[in-house]
Amino acid sequence: MSCPTGRRRAAALLPVRRLPWLPWLWLSLALLVAGPLRPALAAGTPEAQQVERGRYLARIGNCAACHTAEGGKPFAGGLLIRTAVGTLHSTNITPDAANGIGAYTLAEFDRALRQGVARDGRRLYPAMPYPSYARMRADDVTALYAYLRAEVVPVAQRNPAPQLRFPYGMRSLLSVWNLLFLDDDPVRIEPARGDAWNRGAYLVQAVAHCGACHTPRGRLFAEKGLDERSRHFLSGASVEGWSATNLTGDQVTGLGAWSRTDIAEFLRTGRNGHATSFGPMSTVISTATQYMSQGDLDAVAAYLKSLPGARGEDKPFRPDPATARQLHQGRFDLPGARQYAVFCMPCHGADGRGFARVFPPLAGNPTVADPDPASLVNLLLDGAVTARVGTAATDYHMPGYGWTLDDQELASVLTFIRRGWGNRAGPVTEADVAARRKALATQP
Ligand code: HEC
Ligand code: HEC
Ligand code: HEC
Repeated sequence: MSCPTGRRRAAALLPVRRLPWLPWLWLSLALLVAGPLRPALAAGTPEAQQVERGRYLARIGNCAACHTAEGGKPFAGGLLIRTAVGTLHSTNITPDAANGIGAYTLAEFDRALRQGVARDGRRLYPAMPYPSYARMRADDVTALYAYLRAEVVPVAQRNPAPQLRFPYGMRSLLSVWNLLFLDDDPVRIEPARGDAWNRGAYLVQAVAHCGACHTPRGRLFAEKGLDERSRHFLSGASVEGWSATNLTGDQVTGLGAWSRTDIAEFLRTGRNGHATSFGPMSTVISTATQYMSQGDLDAVAAYLKSLPGARGEDKPFRPDPATARQLHQGRFDLPGARQYAVFCMPCHGADGRGFARVFPPLAGNPTVADPDPASLVNLLLDGAVTARVGTAATDYHMPGYGWTLDDQELASVLTFIRRGWGNRAGPVTEADVAARRKALATQP
């Protein structure tokens, strides 16, 4: 009775016994150890392509820059963010289960990214730019999720508690904010405008969230416009004590005089024939836009160039040679002229044209003409260094004059450059400089 069964069993075992089983054993052991940690993705598969796309989106969406503290582990959070209502920290979005997003399902991750609600139901502050990400495509959210889970190393780093002024510490109030302001309609597609424009609109409005800094905020800190249908959209705003300039088509304070190539060059390298980047924009360029593909840079430029001027400046900048003539003749009648000749002229020139891509021109430069002089004052007080990008071997420094010149002298030299060479911007006052000096000094 038992004999046929026994024979069958022996037959079933036979091929296995004949195999060189030792290597198989090692291989399965190795898979058991390595498998759950890091499933290797074969290049070219749909999964690998999705992860690749997620890595690119995380770069140009600036997730890494905001979710990494200075000197900290990538994506482990802890970057201090100062807002108008207090300070908070970015959180850990590594795949760590206890502190990061290891336990997040795709649906939960999507809700955090596009609705601003964390896995545990906690409402996120809009310091996390979910009002922009809300308009991202679902397949891009999936790609980000795939990348963060597949390639980011889990880090067991706890999230510090935010310190916000009453009543802003009450996260539940954010559900009301979302009801009032969150617009999760996908970015509008306008087939007649062509592929580049539509891709640019999507990048600017959703993934790269340019409006988070460049669009003025109204009631309860909500951006006043989310796309080109609003005249406020990208019309310039104050951010972290800097002025994020007007990106619409205005001739003098906007990008009206910049070509598409100029804009793409600025976003890739932090410099072009018109200006150099500094402050928060240099960070955006070093960590995000320098990695944009040429196609995406061109798309962003095409979209920005389609925006009509928000301030109605339709007359182009007209250079006035009188300033250079006076400086050459040593006529320092205007306040600030002497300081300009002594401190600034060696780099920016008597004609205010500087030396393109090294020392930016001051004549016809939108930053110099900006109605809000905050960036100019910061720059003069503390100096600056051109953006760190892969395409530039050298960084150029603008020295700070906070210790050399007093508030009145700084105000005068700024007023001088805002009126020189054909620039027509309002004066900078001693009080403007004093206020910024105080604000900067209070920062550790
Ligand atoms: C401008 C800074 C900034 C950028 C850019 C940013 N985040 Fe955030 N993110 C934050 C802050 C701050 C928080 C925490 C908000 C809070 O505590 O309410 C956060 C929270 C989160 C959370 C919730 C995690 C948790 O459980 O606390 C997720 C998920 C997240 N971000 C993913 C992303 C992804 C993905 C990107 C890129 C597409 C991104 N973030 C870009 C600032 C940023
Ligand atoms: C974190 C805030 C922040 C974000 C996000 C941001 N910018 Fe800026 N941007 C600034 C600030 C501040 C300035 C002014 C400093 C300067 O000119 O470099 C600026 C300046 C610029 C300038 C130079 C304008 C001029 O007249 O010199 C351009 C062009 C620009 N940004 C484009 C963009 C685009 C496109 C995006 C989205 C891909 C973007 N920015 C996202 C803060 C930001
Ligand atoms: C040693 C050379 C040097 C001197 C001297 C100098 N600068 Fe600069 N300046 C630079 C560099 C380099 C930058 C670009 C900084 C950056 O991109 O972060 C710059 C940037 C600027 C900008 C921003 C322009 C833009 O593109 O948005 C202004 C305004 C400016 N300088 C004004 C002045 C004034 C006013 C003085 C004199 C008080 C002065 N600079 C002295 C080198 C110099």
